[in-house]
Amino acid sequence: MKRVAIIGAGPSGLAQMRAFQSAKNNGEEIPEIVCFEKQADWGGLWNYTWRTGLDEYGEPVHGSMYRYLWSNGPKEGLEFADYSFEEHFGKQIASYPPRAVLFDYIQGRVEKAGVRDWIKFRTPVRNVEWDDAAKTFTVTSHDLLNDKVSTEQFDNVVCCSGHFSTPNVPEFDGLDRFNGRVLHAHDFRDAVEFAGKDILIIGTSYSAEDIGSQCWKYGAKTITVSHRTAAMGYKWPDNWTEVPLLTKVVGNTCTFKDGSTKEVDAIILCTGYLHHFPFMAEDLKLRTTNRLATASLYKGVALVDNPALMYIGMQDQWFTFNMFDAQAWWARDVIMGKIRTPDTATMKADVEDRVAREDQVEDDYDAIWYQGDYVKELILETDYPTFDVEGACQAFKQWKGHKKKDIMTFRDNSYQSVITGTMAPAHHTPWKDAMDDSLESYMQN
Ligand SMILES: Cc1cc2nc3c(=O)[nH]c(=O)nc-3n(C[C@H](O)[C@H](O)[C@H](O)COP(=O)(O)OP(=O)(O)OC[C@H]3O[C@@H](n4cnc5c(N)ncnc54)[C@H](O)[C@@H]3O)c2cc1C
Ligand SMILES: NC(=O)c1ccc[n+]([C@@H]2O[C@H](COP(=O)([O-])OP(=O)(O)OC[C@H]3O[C@@H](n4cnc5c(N)ncnc54)[C@H](OP(=O)(O)O)[C@@H]3O)[C@@H](O)[C@H]2O)c1
Repeated sequence: MKRVAIIGAGPSGLAQMRAFQSAKNNGEEIPEIVCFEKQADWGGLWNYTWRTGLDEYGEPVHGSMYRYLWSNGPKEGLEFADYSFEEHFGKQIASYPPRAVLFDYIQGRVEKAGVRDWIKFRTPVRNVEWDDAAKTFTVTSHDLLNDKVSTEQFDNVVCCSGHFSTPNVPEFDGLDRFNGRVLHAHDFRDAVEFAGKDILIIGTSYSAEDIGSQCWKYGAKTITVSHRTAAMGYKWPDNWTEVPLLTKVVGNTCTFKDGSTKEVDAIILCTGYLHHFPFMAEDLKLRTTNRLATASLYKGVALVDNPALMYIGMQDQWFTFNMFDAQAWWARDVIMGKIRTPDTATMKADVEDRVAREDQVEDDYDAIWYQGDYVKELILETDYPTFDVEGACQAFKQWKGHKKKDIMTFRDNSYQSVITGTMAPAHHTPWKDAMDDSLESYMQN
């Protein structure tokens, strides 16, 4: 019997386990699955931790999520095709669930599937190597609870370790002498800390937009956002300013490229993350930037130079949970011999074609449909339940329109489920006034 190692039990790793379990449910003989997870629980980034830096075992903390985080896109764009929100909650819920609600939803599907026993918790993978003669991977892991290091052989490895945990931290002149607090988004946990403060945010993507919005909601005095390429350009509240890139810091005074200055109490670097796989041998390491057409992955999943190794969820993400499912079902079928990967030249050409097509993408709408088409392509090759991907793209389009209309109220809108066809109810409280983000509060609709 084949043996398969899955690294990480976040949404991608859980999708991979659910894919195998669904084949088993259909009466197929599946490989032996061992999932290694370095945290004490499943859910990946959705498993919130207050910790930053190193954890109680000296391991780098994986979590980048913070308190009061609500989904930044409509849940109708990420719903599992085989497990709807209505199945999980017994009713339809509003469209932008807080973290705890999505964590509950993710767990519901895998609790139902009964795959928890496949996971070795508190067991980071330390090393993965390929033995070309034996055609197997040697995986070394560390059971932290028993302080025991073990080595095992596997026929396939599916790497699901995420790529939003190792911060990209640029340098700015004078940061080392700044009189306030400097942190990366990875270490941001609670906006209440910044109530009454003047804050500077560097970056213009989702972390910048959402951490700034959190700080505004929880009472920051002013928010200044500094951009390298272009301002976000939303209609921001009166105490929010967009400025060009930071050039230097002297004391608490920040100077920007246009010569303007601002006194701030804290600087939050929302400057993105690095794909980082310190446990992979050099020839197995994925080297890519955060883009839709990931470098070196055939069909965005199988490593071209060694397709026995798969990477799930390594793309920049419009689609998330349902895209991880599409990838996981496809990876499963390659591993189980139902899909054959072609020769290396054909796989390389596939990657080049994806990159060239992404390079033609002109705006966010093109990017949404590009990724929607990718999800469709994979789903057509497996028995993952087909769903209305076009409808999900339309939900993303509406979402972008709602953000343009009012960035502080976009989360008050509702969309139609592409799985059950039901319209989401309006939430009982506008996002900007909803300070309690618990599951219990959200469920009161
Ligand atoms: C701040 C933030 C907010 C986000 N908000 C949203 C949102 O609103 N909606 C949305 O759809 N997506 C959101 N995302 C995107 C997010 O990437 C996905 O939702 C999802 O968590 C990705 O799942 P994953 O399993 O690929 O990675 P992760 O969730 O990162 O999980 C990876 C898992 O691998 C484990 N692991 C890592 N290294 C090892 C190792 N060496 N050995 C063993 N285990 C290991 C980790 O402990 C972790 O459990 C957000 C991301 C961030 C950073
Ligand atoms: N649920 C939520 O609300 C929520 C909240 C936060 C994050 N997220 C998710 O987390 C993921 C990561 O988002 P992210 O915003 O952290 O990363 P990101 O999308 O990769 O964006 C990185 C940002 O950093 C900027 N940057 C990088 N290097 C810089 C430098 N040297 N100087 C100045 N600016 C620099 C980039 O600017 P350029 O444009 O100039 O390159 C870009 O604006 C996304 O999937 C997102 O959806 C979700």
